[in-house]
Amino acid sequence: MKAVRRVHRAGAVVVAAFVTVHVINHLAALGGVAAHLRFMEAARLVYRHSAVEAVLLLCVTLQAATGLVLAYKGWTRRTGFTATLQAASGLYLALFLLIHVAAVLAGRVLLDLDTNFHYAAAGLHAGAARYFFAPYYFLAVLALFAHLGCALSWRVPRAGPARALVLGTALAGGVAVSGLILAAMLGVLYPYQVPQAYLATWGAGQ
Ligand code: HEM
Repeated sequence: MKAVRRVHRAGAVVVAAFVTVHVINHLAALGGVAAHLRFMEAARLVYRHSAVEAVLLLCVTLQAATGLVLAYKGWTRRTGFTATLQAASGLYLALFLLIHVAAVLAGRVLLDLDTNFHYAAAGLHAGAARYFFAPYYFLAVLALFAHLGCALSWRVPRAGPARALVLGTALAGGVAVSGLILAAMLGVLYPYQVPQAYLATWGAGQ
């Protein structure tokens, strides 16, 4: 189990580096869709490089797989709020990552679409699909902050107010960041219309 945990921690460094840029990319949409697309264009020069993307996708797969093993193995030994939240948020992230990355690759390869802001937002503007995509994205970013918050809170030597403060701050940050990202994609912050080519993949639009 030590080896599995070691791989999970090592992979986390690569995944966290990408996800930090990824979340900042989505927050750039607070300044408008054009700002988001400009940021993505620059970031893609690095993470879309074939060698970098291969390492990233390998790390994402290992992260989800080792996370599932850790959650399964520790299931009966787990007690307390932080340990339960860490496992639950990890399980959600593993499931989300598998669906999310498959959807992005399918968009690129099968639908021949640029998997940008419009691709992510289309599901939120396509009839009943929005009732799946709104909680799906909201919980993903929240689970990310919760999972990292749990990992950080274990670093506080003793249980008590300091540990609770670390976890509480991470959760509040997760709710705020997730809410802002979704607000931009939903068109709450400024008028936004999903291009027809993206809506058409959902059988929506005219
Ligand atoms: C509101 C939340 C999110 C939205 C709207 C979103 C949207 C997207 C989009 C549009 C792409 C394609 C990027 C491109 O083509 O350059 C992408 C890729 C990706 N996302 Fe997310 N994402 C979200 C959250 C997350 C989270 C929380 C994680 C990880 C925990 C994550 C992991 C990834 C990964 C690994 C890729 C694949 C990168 C690649 O190889 O191109 N995403 N996401």
